[in-house]
Amino acid sequence: MPGLTDRFERVHDYLRISVTDRCNLRCLYCMPEEGVEFAPSSDLLSYDQIVEVVETGARLGITKLRITGGEPLVRPGLDGLVRRLSAIPGICDISLTTNGVLLADQAAALRDAGVNRVNISLDTLDPARFQFIARRGDLKRVMAGIEASVKVGFSPIKLNCVLLKGVNEDEIGDFLQLAYEHPLHVRFIEYMPIGHADENWKNHYLPLARVLEIASERKLLTHRLDSIVGNGPSEDYRMIGGKGSFGLIHPVSDHFCQRCNRLRLTADGNLKPCLYWIDELSVKPALGDPQALSDLFMRAMELKPLNHEMAAKLSDEAQSHQPTARRMSQIGG
Ligand code: GTP
Ligand code: 5AD
Ligand code: SF4
Repeated sequence: MPGLTDRFERVHDYLRISVTDRCNLRCLYCMPEEGVEFAPSSDLLSYDQIVEVVETGARLGITKLRITGGEPLVRPGLDGLVRRLSAIPGICDISLTTNGVLLADQAAALRDAGVNRVNISLDTLDPARFQFIARRGDLKRVMAGIEASVKVGFSPIKLNCVLLKGVNEDEIGDFLQLAYEHPLHVRFIEYMPIGHADENWKNHYLPLARVLEIASERKLLTHRLDSIVGNGPSEDYRMIGGKGSFGLIHPVSDHFCQRCNRLRLTADGNLKPCLYWIDELSVKPALGDPQALSDLFMRAMELKPLNHEMAAKLSDEAQSHQPTARRMSQIGG
């Protein structure tokens, strides 16, 4: 049996590493406008400590890393961390999830350091609506980040679009058109009830079935695809004659927990077996002791639950265990 196998025989080879809980945007599905209390810098794992945790993870079978935030590009010297991570024996894929605002300036250095590919959040193609959703920043900077990603050769380039009822659902067709005309992979994501007041979530939650209906209304013939490079939960499609492709990430309407292959490391140093539940294991007491770190990874496998229960929140059903109170920006998505 490979090193990181859980009680349900799921093998874990993917670690999502959040390097900061800070962000230069305030997306309405993620943070309140006034922001949240950020962890003091002294609470964050240093880059040396992150490397140490990954060295142990890699010995146990982690081969794929994703750098997340908050917004990872706000932490200085990220390319230096990536360079060190890519030198760890066994690590063969490093990717990045970013809001794209700072990407144009950093794309070349990150590519050079060893980032293979990027997933960029893009919830709207309309500048005024961008201001409404992200509350800060500028759509033009994100577009410049996408262009820079093409230029430096990140591949594939994925765009993450969280669909929100009453906010951006009218743009599904435009996003499909974007993927038809450009070699980009657009992923529609269901809004998840993480770190949010229930009403906010329920009012804006939109099941993804609508995307395939719109593709069909627009006479875009689609086929399931399994050749998009990725380690996550997306169900991917190509459009006949199109340059790009699209994907559906539907944790709520149809969860994919049976295929889960990932662990998370939060910026403040907790190993998290599942995005949804409260359980976290602090790596800090184990730093400097490879055996203790290895034991923590194994403990995370023991704690890993079978699935989340996001859908139960739609009908206010009782949860079987305690959901996390952390926000998405504090976990890394
Ligand atoms: P690829 O390797 O490109 O497939 O990346 P990914 O889809 O794993 O990463 P990304 O950071 O782009 O995440 C896209 C969306 O999937 C985000 O909304 C994540 O929160 C969500 N996601 C990723 N992993 C999980 C998971 O284990 N459970 C749930 N519910 N959502 C997840
Ligand atoms: N539901 C779904 N996706 C979310 N993201 C952030 N918050 C949520 C949420 N509540 C997405 C971001 C980013 C990725 C890391 O997670 O848009 O693309
Ligand atoms: Fe920042 Fe990402 Fe949260 Fe938006 S979703 S506020 S980009 S951490």
